[in-house]
Amino acid sequence: MKPSLDIADLKEMARRRVPRMFFDYADSGAWTESTYRANEEDFAKIKFRQRVLVDMTDRSLESTMIGEKVSMPVALAPTGLTGMQHADGEMLAAQAAEEFGVPFTLSTMSICSIEDVASVTKKPFWFQLYVMRDKDFVLNLIDRAKAAKCSALMLTLDLQILGQRHKDIRNGLSAPPKLTAANLANMAMRLPWCLNMLRTKRRSFGNIVGHAKGVGDLSSLSSWTAEQFDPRLSWKDVEWIKERWGGKLILKGILDPEDARLAAETGADAIIVSNHGGRQLDGAPSTITVLPEIVDAVGDRIEVHFDGGIRSGQDVLKALCLGAKGTYIGRPFLYGLGAGGKKGVRLALDIIRKELDVTLALCGKRLIADAGPDLLYKGRG
Ligand SMILES: Cc1cc2nc3c(=O)[nH]c(=O)nc-3n(C[C@H](O)[C@H](O)[C@H](O)COP(=O)(O)O)c2cc1C
Repeated sequence: MKPSLDIADLKEMARRRVPRMFFDYADSGAWTESTYRANEEDFAKIKFRQRVLVDMTDRSLESTMIGEKVSMPVALAPTGLTGMQHADGEMLAAQAAEEFGVPFTLSTMSICSIEDVASVTKKPFWFQLYVMRDKDFVLNLIDRAKAAKCSALMLTLDLQILGQRHKDIRNGLSAPPKLTAANLANMAMRLPWCLNMLRTKRRSFGNIVGHAKGVGDLSSLSSWTAEQFDPRLSWKDVEWIKERWGGKLILKGILDPEDARLAAETGADAIIVSNHGGRQLDGAPSTITVLPEIVDAVGDRIEVHFDGGIRSGQDVLKALCLGAKGTYIGRPFLYGLGAGGKKGVRLALDIIRKELDVTLALCGKRLIADAGPDLLYKGRG
């Protein structure tokens, strides 16, 4: 792998190595992409207070998320089709996260299955659930996650219907890719990706094919997924899911203080302030803008996590200062994966850790637990 100094370097390397259809799938938001852009841009408006002559020895980024020890409070977010950024992508990313000491979350819409990931990891990972109309399939997924000893279930709340991403439609996104002339030409220039893909058997939705009724092959799969996301999902459903699961529960996709209060009443262990990385409601505010009011609304009744737009350790620190107990990265680890497989994910995490550590120290703090609003610059007068 060529040296990469920041997440932007990894993004450019991934752009050159991953077929356009899948690179664009990661690097896109809904409709005009205004919320996708705002997630990143609004971080840049927040400034730090530089402090000097403070003892900076014995620094630590160690923390906890839902009671689990983490080497830094940055988990890998659930992302669909990760095994198309790089062959066996979910297994590689899960291993990189495990070695680094941060949680990995497997998406329902992954290429590698729950069992695949369990077979190559030792520590428990987290599983993200999409609720489908086929309730037997959902119950079975929950049971499979339990059998694989997943230590948290993450229920995604903001995708009862799909936001539209123009690039996916233009590129004819599918897994595996349709072999049109344009796709073949694009893939021919990305030989290492193709060779790795030929070596693996994992090229479709591993949690679904062979598990959902009537889905045995690819043609039945595309019609199944198109109609399966359950538009009737409601707060009531959280109850039976929580009961069936019986373990730690994280509710993902909260963007409004009123919903945050309702989520706190469910007895879940954490909420994630998230707009799905700008992929659902275009025109919604950036997550970093709404984080403080959501933290205010729930107080200490539920742990507040955060995702959306994090591209550096500095962004992680800003979210922690504004009240998040933990954060997640989606695209940064996908770019690392596309750029260099497991090593690339590791590099993405290393880059973020270094930026987080140095920034914390230059703000005059040694422990990540000391991150608070006093580290942020509020202007003079
Ligand atoms: C390519 C891609 C696929 C995603 N798939 C899922 C998914 O399957 N389930 C889910 O809950 N969120 C999904 N998300 C949203 C992420 O979990 C997370 O909220 C988002 O990526 C955070 O923003 P960031 O990419 O700017 O870090 C996806 C995001 C991306 C970029």
